[in-house]
Amino acid sequence: MHTERVNIMSKHYEVPSTFAKKAYINEALYQKWYQQSIDEPETFWGERAKEFISWHTPFEAVKSGSFEKADMRWFIGGKLNASFNCLDRHLKDNGKKVAIIWEGDDPNETRKITYKELHELVSRFANGLKNYGIQKGDRVCIYLPMIPEVAIAMLACARIGAIHSVVFGGFSSDSLKTRILDSDCKMVITADEGIRAGKKIALKENTDAALKGCPNVKKVIVVKRTGNPIHWEKNRDIWYHEVIEGGDPQCEPEMIDSDDPLFILYTSGSTGRPKGVLHTTGGYLVYVAMTHKYIFDYHEEDIYWCTADVGWITGHSYIIYGPLANAATTVMFEGVPHYPSFSRYWEIVDKHKVNIFYTAPTAIRALRREGDLFVSKTSRKSLKLLGTVGEPINPEVWEWYYQVVGEGRCPIVDTWWQTETGGILISPLPGATALKPGSATLPFFGIEPEIVDETGKPIKTNTSGKLVIKKPWPGFMKTIYGDHQRFIDTYFKEVKGVYLTGDGAHRDEEGDYWISGRNDDVIKVSGHRLGTEEIESSLLEHPAVSEAAVVAIPHEIKGEAIYAYVSTKAEIEPSENLKQELKRQVRNSIGPIATPEEIQWTEALPKTRSGKIMRRLLRKVARNEIEDLGDVSTLSNPFVIEELIRERKKNQDIP
Ligand code: PRX
Repeated sequence: MHTERVNIMSKHYEVPSTFAKKAYINEALYQKWYQQSIDEPETFWGERAKEFISWHTPFEAVKSGSFEKADMRWFIGGKLNASFNCLDRHLKDNGKKVAIIWEGDDPNETRKITYKELHELVSRFANGLKNYGIQKGDRVCIYLPMIPEVAIAMLACARIGAIHSVVFGGFSSDSLKTRILDSDCKMVITADEGIRAGKKIALKENTDAALKGCPNVKKVIVVKRTGNPIHWEKNRDIWYHEVIEGGDPQCEPEMIDSDDPLFILYTSGSTGRPKGVLHTTGGYLVYVAMTHKYIFDYHEEDIYWCTADVGWITGHSYIIYGPLANAATTVMFEGVPHYPSFSRYWEIVDKHKVNIFYTAPTAIRALRREGDLFVSKTSRKSLKLLGTVGEPINPEVWEWYYQVVGEGRCPIVDTWWQTETGGILISPLPGATALKPGSATLPFFGIEPEIVDETGKPIKTNTSGKLVIKKPWPGFMKTIYGDHQRFIDTYFKEVKGVYLTGDGAHRDEEGDYWISGRNDDVIKVSGHRLGTEEIESSLLEHPAVSEAAVVAIPHEIKGEAIYAYVSTKAEIEPSENLKQELKRQVRNSIGPIATPEEIQWTEALPKTRSGKIMRRLLRKVARNEIEDLGDVSTLSNPFVIEELIRERKKNQDIP
């Protein structure tokens, strides 16, 4: 990794005076609370836990454990239920308030569900789950499109203490299968089909294929979304609407330990298969509720919309648990930003009078490319705050979002966080922080980031290094499901006593953080997190492939794209057809998001004398940075360089 001096961006946007006055947190309060959260974390988090969450049994201690031992626990002895906190406790004052505004892929389809209605649906479904044998601690896989039933299913699991594992609807049947098997799910909740941009996604068909290899799944609950004919296993499949109709509307929430699991969510890492990030209940809920309120400066009357898919952590924390814990109205969108036209997001903003809008840089880049007219023809007057997440946002794109979408009046919160962190760790607070386009700015309460060098030593201002977090916070994951050793090895081994994020960053002289992206073998394609090794394994499954290596290349819209180097077996002639076949292979085995942008044939991969693939060199060649290839003296087969460069030139349509 490089530790060069970084150019300083000096552009600032001061906190708008209107925001500074009415926001919950202004600069002075931020400083005061931040200091307290660092000096007296137990007092700080203890108070917040009582303020944001209703406890059935109060906790006896705020926290225990450390990063050194990877054994952190929060709100010890406390008992609570996440569904109670997201529903029941709101009924008295907010029963009639809309909890979910659902906007279908088709602009004519909208549904509004009040807290009272959601409470009843969740209770009925929770009873249904119990009737089919699901108990506390059981794992339930949810493979649904963006429809309200995904929230109902998650909250119903939480209500009875079952652990949900939501799998993104864009994953293939193979990916679904490995996730079901890894956490030994007993049940799958899916839909006949999903719909995105008018196209159908065969969710039930994928589930049927996945379940051929999952003997422990005894029941499948199916939501009727499109009504198209599907295969039906008589003794296994059950219609969701029949479960709801047959379920008793009274279901006492199971009060579980603060440290009991709430969910598992699979995410990709540098090596190996995706890992099941396990989040527990108390700490997670306190953290997502608090960050949701202060970072988005959420007020009671606001309409809040996060465009993420519930299959990712952003959807878990900031469509479902954070907003619902705060009794917010959360918008859930089934479709995509470009359908039926590139104005769709802004039309939804106008239709539902959205005040807070949270999306990903990849969507902003794609919409920006289409020109301002798609934006300017809509009103957007309701908007007061914009957010971004998932990858670095470049300053030009930030400016467009700020000036064109927000018309210069909406602060942007550039929120940095990860599946592992549960909630946002670094972000402006809209009433407290001056904005710098491209910088996630300052740490949230209780978060102590540090930038370290290769040896784990803190490094100088304006020098890039590895981003680590020094102390635990309540939203952090508890472990990797079924593999605690992997948890330790992944996050706590390389630099002792801190959490290693896997990201590169630098801090400027004002203490603001600039995150440059992953510095491990994780790729962010349109904000989706993929590991190079899983894509390589998928390529290697093809009988024609003898070796494969995958690297990231920059991409104008996707942020990063996948560039694959492949060597075929001796008797196989590389061809355009084979390239297409390999792309299909990855699509089918992981999902469309993992499809390589380009495949380059190579006789051999560049390897060091110890047999390690020299990815740095592959990255340079893929990015066309061939003038300076760096130190290649440790290569055991330097002759491949010339061939790599020659073949790369054939792919000139890739920038
Ligand atoms: O590289 C960082 C990038 O997304 C990674 C985490 O991905 P995931 O677990 O899928 O969670 C995404 C949503 C929270 C991080 O390691 N990332 C996330 N937010 C930002 C970001 N990079 C730069 N700026 C951000 N605001």
